[in-house]
Amino acid sequence: MESKNRVIAIDGPAASGKSSVSTRVSERTGFLHINSGLMYRALTWSALHSGVDPRDSSAIIDHLNSIDMDCRKSGKSLILTINGTDLGDELKSHEVNLSVSIVSAIKEVRDELVKRQRDYLQISNIVMEGRDIGSVVFPDTPYKFYIDASPEVRAKRRQGEGGQDDLSARDKLDSSRKVSPLVVPKDSFVIDTSDMNLDEVVEKVMAELILRGLDN
Ligand code: DC
Repeated sequence: MESKNRVIAIDGPAASGKSSVSTRVSERTGFLHINSGLMYRALTWSALHSGVDPRDSSAIIDHLNSIDMDCRKSGKSLILTINGTDLGDELKSHEVNLSVSIVSAIKEVRDELVKRQRDYLQISNIVMEGRDIGSVVFPDTPYKFYIDASPEVRAKRRQGEGGQDDLSARDKLDSSRKVSPLVVPKDSFVIDTSDMNLDEVVEKVMAELILRGLDN
């Protein structure tokens, strides 16, 4: 079904600052913020905790079909639950970081989660962050951004957040997979945030949105 709602697509590699930028752009525009990575993380967490091997694609697909992954709107953001449980910080754990790129490379997983991501446009204007939002999920949106930063800066930012994350391994897997790899989407506005603070990045995004005709 066609929707009149609009989507701001924010892609980029791990720890590039997408989430902080998306949160602020959501606050400024009033659009619903959806972090698509959390859906891949939730499936990964659930599979690991049910003893399903992330490398066993058909078991992962069966697992996805057997769980109730619910994303509910709560105020301006979403609450993601698996079988009724809000997973919170578990989604950012080291064990999830280690396996999420393997799970998210499975075509059938992507087909299903992309379908759900597109459905959100029926309920609201959205800011969606991820790896393939401007290239695959919403290729027709005029509001596309690619947020980048040098590997050193990204590693530092992730370190500052605490937690362990092998960014270069995830980058490699996310960029080299066959289905919907991380790419700079065509016609996206690229921002290298290595030497910028969050306010500067947000201002740049908001200015570009106006240039691209977003009036809200
Ligand atoms: O944005 P993030 O680092 O929380 O995403 C976790 C993983 O999920 C990432 O390594 C690749 C996958 N992902 C994806 O394949 N497609 C998306 N749209 C979002 C995330």
